[in-house]
Amino acid sequence: MCGIVGAVAQRDVAEILVEGLRRLEYRGYDSAGVAVFSSEHALQRVRRLGKVAELANALEEQAVHGGTGIAHTRWATHGEPSERNAHPHVSGHIVIVHNGIIENHEELRVELMGLGYEFASDTDTEVIAHLVHHEQKSSPSLLAAMQKAVKRLRGAYGTVVVDSRDDSRLVVARSGSPLVIGRGIGENFIASDQLALLPVTRRFIFLEEGDVAEVTRRDVTIYDVNGDLVEREEKESDISHDAGDKGEYRHYMLKEIHEQPHAIGQTLEGRLGGDHVVVESFGNGARSIFEQVQHVQIVACGTSYNSGMVARYWFESIAGVSCDVEIASEFRYRKSVVRPGSLLITLSQSGETADTLAALRLAKASGYMSSLAICNVPGSSLVRESELAFMTRAGAEIGVASTKAFTTQLAGLLMLVAAIGRCRGNLDSAVEAGLVKALQTLPQRIKETLSLAKQIEALAEEFADKHHSLFLGRGDQYPIAMEGALKMKEISYIHAEAYAAGELKHGPLALIDAEMPIIVVAPNNDLLEKLKSNIEEVRARGGILYVFADEATGFKSNDTMRVMNINHVEEVIAPIVYTVPMQLLSYYVALIKGTDVDQPRNLAKSVTVE
Ligand code: AGP
Ligand code: GLU
Repeated sequence: MCGIVGAVAQRDVAEILVEGLRRLEYRGYDSAGVAVFSSEHALQRVRRLGKVAELANALEEQAVHGGTGIAHTRWATHGEPSERNAHPHVSGHIVIVHNGIIENHEELRVELMGLGYEFASDTDTEVIAHLVHHEQKSSPSLLAAMQKAVKRLRGAYGTVVVDSRDDSRLVVARSGSPLVIGRGIGENFIASDQLALLPVTRRFIFLEEGDVAEVTRRDVTIYDVNGDLVEREEKESDISHDAGDKGEYRHYMLKEIHEQPHAIGQTLEGRLGGDHVVVESFGNGARSIFEQVQHVQIVACGTSYNSGMVARYWFESIAGVSCDVEIASEFRYRKSVVRPGSLLITLSQSGETADTLAALRLAKASGYMSSLAICNVPGSSLVRESELAFMTRAGAEIGVASTKAFTTQLAGLLMLVAAIGRCRGNLDSAVEAGLVKALQTLPQRIKETLSLAKQIEALAEEFADKHHSLFLGRGDQYPIAMEGALKMKEISYIHAEAYAAGELKHGPLALIDAEMPIIVVAPNNDLLEKLKSNIEEVRARGGILYVFADEATGFKSNDTMRVMNINHVEEVIAPIVYTVPMQLLSYYVALIKGTDVDQPRNLAKSVTVE
């Protein structure tokens, strides 16, 4: 779930490991630890509850030396967050870090206790340490012991193990939790995310499901799930070295909000052919698949689910293709009927979200025509396991609250809608040309909207003492209200609900009083008159309105209504543009409330367990 960094080198690696952990902090964690090995020293292990900075302080007082080491940030699944539960865990000479969950840890624990093993923590991880230790009695090579041990594990793991008697190698295994090997010159590294290793290398090998590998200073030897020796391609990373830095911004989230014009530019680059969308942008064979699509099923979680909800409006109104959207954790545990010619689309920033991945695997076994992932992380599990893939190219998103990943997903989805609409013969070429034109204006439109930051910051003051908020929208802006509400609760901890504005009188109207701010997204579209009536319903009951509206709507600020004018934009791209003020509002409210914007409490960036 959280962070792993490992190194086998000739220089002291403690500093590299800690810097790697810092770069993974954005994922959220509760404790951190490091173990370093050298032939002259016994095992040196330091663990701390809390932040990586505390681990770094501890290491200043208690310096560790050695060229081989492993480090971890833990997000507890079994056993409370504490120093004794922090990784690395030890079984005799076996030292281990692990991301994920071992589902059969209880039965293994009983078995291992029967063999005389004593447990020093409450984690599921510790069973792996003892299991490897036990297997090593009959298979002395660490690699062979690991290969045997992982066969006994059920659940998800990315794990790295060291035998403290031999500091020349790391043995790693991956199943359900990502691991990447970083190649150096005369030194090699391992991490759960390439971002951790950018200061030391740009050459990466992504392990695949079931792989077990031995990493020494010179060599990387990989065995697949069947134990056969395999070659995995080495790739040069194009993520910039400072992708993990905040630059001039106070928070990653703010930086990422401001990166959206550039990020969307990247999403569009090379994928628009003058007046049409390049169908092949979605992968080899996309055209023949799209020609047969009769129905689209979108599956995703959280913010990615909200972007799917916007796409539903687009698919049906622009491409003339029916579309359902479902939360992955529901989809995967529900018996559903697969319509003929159904394309499964998964949306995910990380490409490692456990429920989304499980939904994809389920769909592949249940008669979907094909699968397409829209994702921000190349080489992620979702991308590798889908037939077609579209990279959003938003760049690394560090803030736990998703921003540029969402708007780039929407840009990708709009292109997909155009591509499928044309392949199905439902989209007039003039309409597609208009859509492409609108997409091309997006970076500039978002830039203009970002210039409202100061005004929104001032508006945010009024939310500081509020406990609840209501977000309203209609049509394809209803999911933008949902996304606005999700951002607000995630980072400011203000309870926020989103409603389709037409639902107001069916219940939520009862909540309205002067203590309840109501945020409305109001572009100038066919639904404006309806929305105006909903606004009046709120006003008549003493609610305070915050309306983000197209200038042409004619809304004016007064005692009960604050209006924030948004430049007129093409209707089709309005959901993308109106997302930006929602992001800024939640950011500035969180700033006033003094919450941890980039790492909100209880949340993790990438949810790789159920
Ligand atoms: C977004 O702000 C959230 N942190 C969360 O809802 C997130 O979108 C969700 O966990 C899905 O993640 P994914 O896009 O990486 O699959
Ligand atoms: N399940 C393990 C634990 O609770 C690992 C959690 C993680 O992925 O950080 O310690």
